[in-house]
Amino acid sequence: MFTMISSSAVCSVFFNFVSLIALSKSLRSKDVWIKDNVFTENEIRDMKSLLSQDETVWKFQPREDNNLAIAGRTKNLCSKACYSCYSWSSNLTSVTFKSSSSWRKVSDTLSSHIGIKGNCRILSLEGKINIRAGHTCTERASVSDKTVNSYIAVIFLVQNSRRNAYGELIVYNEGEIIKAVYPKRGRLVIFPASLEHVIKSPAIDMSERLYCMKIHFLLSDDQRHSAVVQETLPGNTVRNDFNNLMVFPNFKLLTKTDTTPDGTLDIQQFVTKNFTTNSGLSIVVLDGILPLKELDALRKTVETNGYSDNAAGMDSTDQVQWIMAFEIDDFVQTSLWNVVSQIVTFVSGKKGYFPYDIGCNNIQATDTTTIHIDSEFNESEFTLLIYLNEDWTANHHGETVFFDDMEGNEVIFAVRPRYGRVAIFHGSIPHSARPPPLLMEGARFSFAVKLAASEETARKKADLLDIDVLYEALEVLQGEEADKLEAIIHDIEDGKMDRQTKETIIREYETH
Ligand SMILES: *[C@@H]1O[C@H](CO)[C@@H](O)[C@H](O)[C@H]1NC(C)=O
Ligand SMILES: *[C@@H]1O[C@H](CO)[C@@H](O)[C@H](O)[C@H]1NC(C)=O
Ligand SMILES: *[C@@H]1O[C@H](CO)[C@@H](O)[C@H](O)[C@H]1NC(C)=O
Repeated sequence: MFTMISSSAVCSVFFNFVSLIALSKSLRSKDVWIKDNVFTENEIRDMKSLLSQDETVWKFQPREDNNLAIAGRTKNLCSKACYSCYSWSSNLTSVTFKSSSSWRKVSDTLSSHIGIKGNCRILSLEGKINIRAGHTCTERASVSDKTVNSYIAVIFLVQNSRRNAYGELIVYNEGEIIKAVYPKRGRLVIFPASLEHVIKSPAIDMSERLYCMKIHFLLSDDQRHSAVVQETLPGNTVRNDFNNLMVFPNFKLLTKTDTTPDGTLDIQQFVTKNFTTNSGLSIVVLDGILPLKELDALRKTVETNGYSDNAAGMDSTDQVQWIMAFEIDDFVQTSLWNVVSQIVTFVSGKKGYFPYDIGCNNIQATDTTTIHIDSEFNESEFTLLIYLNEDWTANHHGETVFFDDMEGNEVIFAVRPRYGRVAIFHGSIPHSARPPPLLMEGARFSFAVKLAASEETARKKADLLDIDVLYEALEVLQGEEADKLEAIIHDIEDGKMDRQTKETIIREYETH
């Protein structure tokens, strides 16, 4: 036994010695380079803000090519709403990044390691957010031509990590780990794109997310130049920043209402629950009222479009961390609005209700949602929820729970999600969504429409929500810039600015 081991060890050492030169070239193609202290604190902050800006659209999607069987999980928890290898990622536009000093440092690092002075070209620029208990899986960049010098750079945009925080980047070669790298603020890791790799989730007791940026790029000498251009252009790496603005998905999958409203529904026959609070406010549940076609279209929309990242701050009111916002003017043209409007008229006993805030909440097992109200008692506003998960069982949890007061000592009523179920209630009733259980890797989707008593009130409220970002900007600006912004805010509040100009200005301040 001993003899065998030592003889094979000797053999392998001997082999390494004689083949050192021959091997060095192929080993180099499996190198993982780690560099710390490359970026300044400002550069790190700039890269992080590229991920956090409002334009950045996040997708929460299962990996299509995952070979991890869903089988073996509890069947109950796993029909449709459950997948493996889900993670949050975002296609970032490379336009601003390309001219940044950070990108120059990445390409210089590679060139100097390899000893080739060449052109580095970005093939894709991806933002990543790993959340505790997430199930990330190994991936490999699709390299069309294996001989091309294509590399992955990972930059950790985390706070300084503490002991036992996990979240390593692991690089594999043929199924074996060749390097595990601890996530450190500003750390740069470069390795050949042909290698499989994974960025692990943070430890289960970490509420902070692990942010990083992943760049897939080519090192090309001039000879390769033309081939590279061909590869780069169809993938439209060079995009106009605003083309990426999909934060407001439209309702193109829904049918538009025609000029004649498609009939009046007998709403009462769809009411399955009606609860009245001590203060005389109603929580009404309706089932089977939405046409399946519309429902499926809405579900597809919220499953495939991007979410904005609302990382919960200490002061955030409802801590829904992933929201897909919708445009009011698009919504009121759909036949879905036709039904929603009839429901709110029936429940409130008044005509004229109009939406001021429309969004889909994406709630996951690791989210901590909190008790909140959507409006004050004296504002007669309603919130209407549509639950959008198919085949949702009781064991998927995710109830909307209602309380007597903001302390939440007593639950007064709860609604379990069912596909297409509608819950409508006065916005001043304290409530909270419950997350799904940890074993569920998908998300609980609820489409929420907040309605004010008239179009005029609704528009005013929507404007106030819109210009929140301007007020935030005002807090950090000084002197002339602050005066200028203050004048703009007044113009908007006085209704002196047309919608398009307003939106352009808001967008401008959002990116700053
Ligand atoms: C990013 O873009 C690629 C190519 O267009 C696409 O396949 C991928 O799904 C996109 N990812 C996200 C998160 O949008
Ligand atoms: C719910 O119940 C209350 C109190 O009984 C009643 O006033 C209200 O009309 C009911 N609403 C619906 C939609 O059935
Ligand atoms: C509701 O009450 C608050 C404070 O009590 C007040 O500032 C606000 O104007 C009232 N709103 C309406 C719509 O009456």
